[in-house]
Amino acid sequence: MKPTKVTLTFDNDNAPIELPILSGSLGSDVIDIRSLGKHGVFTYDPGFLSTASCSSDITFIDGDEGLLYYRGYPIEQLAEHCDFMEVCHLLMHGELPDKEQKKQFTSLISGHSMLHDQLTNIFRGFRRDAHPMAVMVGVVGSMSAFYHDSIDVTDKLSREVSAYRLLAKVPTIAAWSYKYNIGEPFMYPQNRFNYAENFMHMMFATPCEAYEPNPILAKAFERILILHADHEQNASTSTVRLAGSSGANPFACVAAGIASLWGPAHGGANEATLKMLEEIGDVSRIGEYIKRAKDKTDSFRLMGFGHRVYKNMDPRAAIMRHTCHQVLDELGLHNDPMFKLALELEKIALEDEYFVSRRLYPNVDFYSGIVMRAMGIPNCMFTAIFALARTAGWVAQWSEMISDPEVRIGRPRQLYTGSQRRDFVPIELR
Ligand code: ACO
Repeated sequence: MKPTKVTLTFDNDNAPIELPILSGSLGSDVIDIRSLGKHGVFTYDPGFLSTASCSSDITFIDGDEGLLYYRGYPIEQLAEHCDFMEVCHLLMHGELPDKEQKKQFTSLISGHSMLHDQLTNIFRGFRRDAHPMAVMVGVVGSMSAFYHDSIDVTDKLSREVSAYRLLAKVPTIAAWSYKYNIGEPFMYPQNRFNYAENFMHMMFATPCEAYEPNPILAKAFERILILHADHEQNASTSTVRLAGSSGANPFACVAAGIASLWGPAHGGANEATLKMLEEIGDVSRIGEYIKRAKDKTDSFRLMGFGHRVYKNMDPRAAIMRHTCHQVLDELGLHNDPMFKLALELEKIALEDEYFVSRRLYPNVDFYSGIVMRAMGIPNCMFTAIFALARTAGWVAQWSEMISDPEVRIGRPRQLYTGSQRRDFVPIELR
């Protein structure tokens, strides 16, 4: 029988505290510690290693078993059978759309894909060589200044419109941040393309040269979007929720999520993986880098390996690995030195005792970086593309949070380790 409560006892005269145990529909039970503060004690859990920060109906992960479900559907089935718009509908509205709902949802998103024309001035304010993620943080944040008719978070319709705007406009913003970086004119969205193709068009077409997306590459890109769409309470999603818990508008919250995603321990890993492969340079140097990754005195880590939650193969990595081989075959790139190096590194690390015993498998970013590079997408855009995919999850998680009547402003406590009270000393006596 599953326990329903736990008693916290102290090694002094303090009275024991009884805490209820809550069960979700799947996964580990959680101890409800909300009443602890009333007793003057708090829990200590830096990095949230043992803390469920919210309840959510959206995504389920079992890191030991290597399972990932969106709204109950295994990621493998969604990646195989759905397009990104269906997955976005599922994340936002809880169900896969029927034909009519899909048509309406897709046309709603296409109808919002253009940017307010004055937003181009914001782009032009950046230095030409600005990193696309820096541009994205700024431009997405600035959307609240352009679309302030949809920032009333207490209004359901307003919340929906801002969610659609984010989903629809982030690909345009990501593609334009690249165009600006390389000095090419901005390409407007084309509604005849699907979401993935449209992004590729805005990235690769020019006013002089049309771009017809290769169907295998467009499918691979769509997979990248589906696999990255949501991942329960990761750092960037938790950032979006925490920012939103104060009632901040969704554009500002998603900009905060983009900033959090940028870090190399999170979404920046795909870019960092490619940089690392470039640095390794040759198969003959893999041993040297594996040695460095194991050396505790060296800060170097094998980028694209390991995951906080998955201690088994990340199911997204397994799908992306397959897609990676399809793309390399389609483009005849299996013998390209960089890709040979990546595949050799994967093989060596998968057999190495250090990585095996710590259950450090290649993660989805290891393979998605390789796929994007093969598609001709530059390294600096990898995390921006992750952000564009994750916007679907961010808006779904933000909407869930903001419409939950139990939600209160996120306000963690701390274990204070600074000075005791002390008196001010005038500057000449210090
Ligand atoms: N290379 C070498 N050693 C590693 C690596 C790595 N990539 N990842 C973890 N380890 C080692 C740690 O040194 C530690 O060893 P120890 O037990 O001997 O001290 C052990 O494995 C456990 O690692 P932690 O850092 O405790 O694991 P944590 O869950 O905190 O970190 C993280 C997970 C941040 C993803 C880490 O594995 C990492 O830095 N990986 C590289 C960056 C990366 O690929 N990030 C992408 C994450 S996936 C995503 O965001 C979609």
